[in-house]
This record gives sequence, C-alpha cells and structure tokens, in this order.
Amino acid sequence: MRHLLDIVDLSVEEIDALIETAEDIIKRPQHYADSCRGKKLATLFFEPSTRTRLSFEAAMYELGGNVIGFSSAASSSVAKGETVGDTIRVVSHFADIIAMRHPYAGAPLAAVQKTLVPIINAGDGEHCHPTQTLADLLTIHRQYGSFENLTVGVCGDLKYGRTVHSLIEAMIRYKGTRFVLISPEELRLPEYIKNTLTKSGMEWTETTSLEDAMPELDILYMTRVQGERFADKAEYERLKDSYTLTPDKLCSAKATLSVMHPLPRVNEISVKVDDDPRACYFKQVENGKYVRMALILKLLAEKEKPFDYITEGALLNVYKCRNRNCITTQCASPDQIFLPSGDGYRCAYCAHYGMG
Ligand code: NCD
Repeated sequence: MRHLLDIVDLSVEEIDALIETAEDIIKRPQHYADSCRGKKLATLFFEPSTRTRLSFEAAMYELGGNVIGFSSAASSSVAKGETVGDTIRVVSHFADIIAMRHPYAGAPLAAVQKTLVPIINAGDGEHCHPTQTLADLLTIHRQYGSFENLTVGVCGDLKYGRTVHSLIEAMIRYKGTRFVLISPEELRLPEYIKNTLTKSGMEWTETTSLEDAMPELDILYMTRVQGERFADKAEYERLKDSYTLTPDKLCSAKATLSVMHPLPRVNEISVKVDDDPRACYFKQVENGKYVRMALILKLLAEKEKPFDYITEGALLNVYKCRNRNCITTQCASPDQIFLPSGDGYRCAYCAHYGMG
C-alpha cells in the first residue's frame, strides 16, 4: 500500500505529476467532482488544526467523497488510553484513506504498521509535514514556473517548525537552490537536517538577521515559534517575538519576492503586509486544497502497491531513540527501527540519531 509519511517518499517526478494534476483540477474542477464517489476519508487529528484538517475535508468533498473523523485527542478513545496503533487499526475498517496529525514524531510510521488503508501524515510533532510542503511547492510553481535557482530564506523556529523541515528536504533536490537559515541561536535547524544539507552539496548559510538576508531572497518563508513544543515556557516567552515582518523591512527585498507562511501566524507577519503583492500565504491555503485532492486521488489509485517500512540494513530493537518526543518513547510503543543513513544510524520514526 502507498502512504505519505515524509516528503522524500515522493520522487521528484511524482511531485511534478501531483502538481500537474492539481493545476488541472484548478482548471476543470467539474471533471473531478465524482472521482471519489462512495469513498471515505478519515481525518484523525490528535493535535489542533484549522487549515490542514478542513483543507483535507474540503478536498474529499470536492472529489465527491465523504469524511469521518475527530478533531482532538480529547474527543476520541485516546482519552481512555488507546494507542495510536489500535485507533488506526479500528478506523481503517471504516475508511478508505486516513489523514492523521499527532503530537509525537513518528506516529504515522507506527500507524502504517497497523493500517489496512493508505495513511497521510498531516504533521507529526516537530518532525515533518509533507502535505504543507506540497501546498508550498504548488505555490512556488505557480509563482515561478519552476523550482530551480531559487534562494530560499526560512525564518523563525527552525528547530521545532516541521513545515520547514519538509520544505528543505523537498527543495534540496532541485538544481541551484540556496538556503538562508534565519533564526535565533536557540531555534536553529536540527543537526540531522543540517547534515542532509551539507551532504547534498548545496549552498546554505545561517544568520540571526532577517534584514541582512532580505535583499538576496526569492522566497521568504516565515514561521511561528512553536510554543507547544517548548519544555521551558520562559524560553518561549523570550523567543516568541524574535522576528516580525513589517512593510519597512520589505523595502530592501526583491520586487519578485514571495512571502510565505504555513499559518497560523501570531505576529511574525504584520497584517500590514497582507496587501503587498508579494504576500503569498493565503495562496498557500488555497493551493493546499487542490494538491491534497491530487494526493488523495494518487494514493487511492495506488492502494495495491507494496510499502516497505523496514528497508535493507534496518536494525530492529537494537538501539533506543533518545528523542523525548518520539512515538517510540511511549508505552506500548512500536518496534525500535534504526536505518543506516551514511552518517550513522537514524531512528526510522523521527530521523534522530540518538541511540543507547
Ligand atoms: C503548521 C503546522 O501545523 O505545523 N500549520 C499548518 O499545518 N499549516 C504551522 C504551525 O502550526 O505553525
């Protein structure tokens, strides 16, 4: 069966095909209006969401299908202590495809070990968020017509911001991408992603100054400081207003810049920027629905294809993950799986190196 856990599960050619389908849906929506007649999508959101859940639901309705699900762990049997594996096993008897969001990194990989239907990761802890990246890629493609030779500034919470992690993993595969990582010292990109950047041979720099980076950027991807992931709330209070994009800061930017943000924003972007033609964040929302429609169609069509989550060289229950937010740290956790990555073994659930 085919799932989408991480953006790198999709080849560059598959991403091109999804973008092409999404663009066709935009042109002739009526052609797709019955494509999922009789099918059900389950949206299992163990963590808050507005855009992603409603965008999945709107996508399924526009394909002629139906939706079941829950929008918080508190309103499901999780509140009674049910494991992710059991919840998924049960729901996969009721639905043809599942989109899930979970506060623990790697929960979707635990889910695929129990499911009977395709799983889509709609965000797992601080790890990744592949469907937001598909929305971002469609937005970039509609803006620039290609993904090559773009200088991308990612700004804000690069440590816990899962949308940035997936965007980097996606853009790394295109010729001439340059990344400028803009964050406070405390919220820098995790080492394991920096190592991926370095290994890819692409150019990247790190800075704390948004103003210094601005003139060279083609894309400025702002992010919210992820308060819910901080162990130390005082540290969150200190860092939460690190960057605010205002119209005056855009004076030194290119006229062709795209200002992006996965939303929700707190005060990373002043509302005064919303009317600037370079603001693209509401376009990302719109594009998210179309690309999720394309993804649902693809995964339902490929339901019979095999998916190996234990790949060659995997070590089962040899090491323990040290990431305190990994699903394997939970009771009744799934098997520990570590995969060789060229720079050591990494946890298959959350990509961290930790072992013990
Ligand atoms: C993001 C998320 O959930 O990671 N939101 C979204 O899905 N568009 C970003 C965020 O919450 O800051």
